[in-house]
Amino acid sequence: MISIGSDHAGYQLKKEIIAWFEEKNIPYLEFGCMNGESCDYPLVAREVCERVVTGNSESAVLVCGTGIGISIAANKVKGIRAAVCTDTYTAKYTRLHNNANVLCLGGRVTGPGVALEIVETFLNTQFEGGRHQRRVDQITEIENNN
Ligand code: RB5
Repeated sequence: MISIGSDHAGYQLKKEIIAWFEEKNIPYLEFGCMNGESCDYPLVAREVCERVVTGNSESAVLVCGTGIGISIAANKVKGIRAAVCTDTYTAKYTRLHNNANVLCLGGRVTGPGVALEIVETFLNTQFEGGRHQRRVDQITEIENNN
C-alpha cells in the first residue's frame, strides 16, 4: 500500500499520479488536499509519514509546490528518509543508497511525464544494503541521539 498526499500546490500532480496508480493497479490511499483548496503541507507530511513508520504503508509519495517544504516536514518524523527528486537518477539512487521511504515531488517544478517516471523508478528500485546499510544506520544514530 502506497500513501500519497499533497497540499494545494501539489494537488494536480497528485491526481496525475493517482490516475497512474489506478492504471497500474497499485493500491494507494490518498491524503491531504482533496479539492485544490489551500492546506498546510506539514500536517499532510505528518499524517502520511506516520502511516509509513507504523508499517501501514510500505512507502509514500508527497507533493507540495517545490517538494522541499513537505520533505523538510517529513524528515522530522522519526524513521522517515524523505527525498526530493526531480529526475530518475536521483530517484534510483535514493532507493539504492539511502533506502528512502518517502518520495517528494514539486508540483510547480516537475511536469507529469517526468514525475511518473520518477515515481515508477522509486517504487521499482530496491535498497542495495551492504556498505549503504552502515551509512543509513549512521543517519538513524543521529536521529536517535541529537
Ligand atoms: C504553498 O504555496 C507552497 O509554499 C508549498 O506548496 C511548498 O512549495 C513549500 O515548500
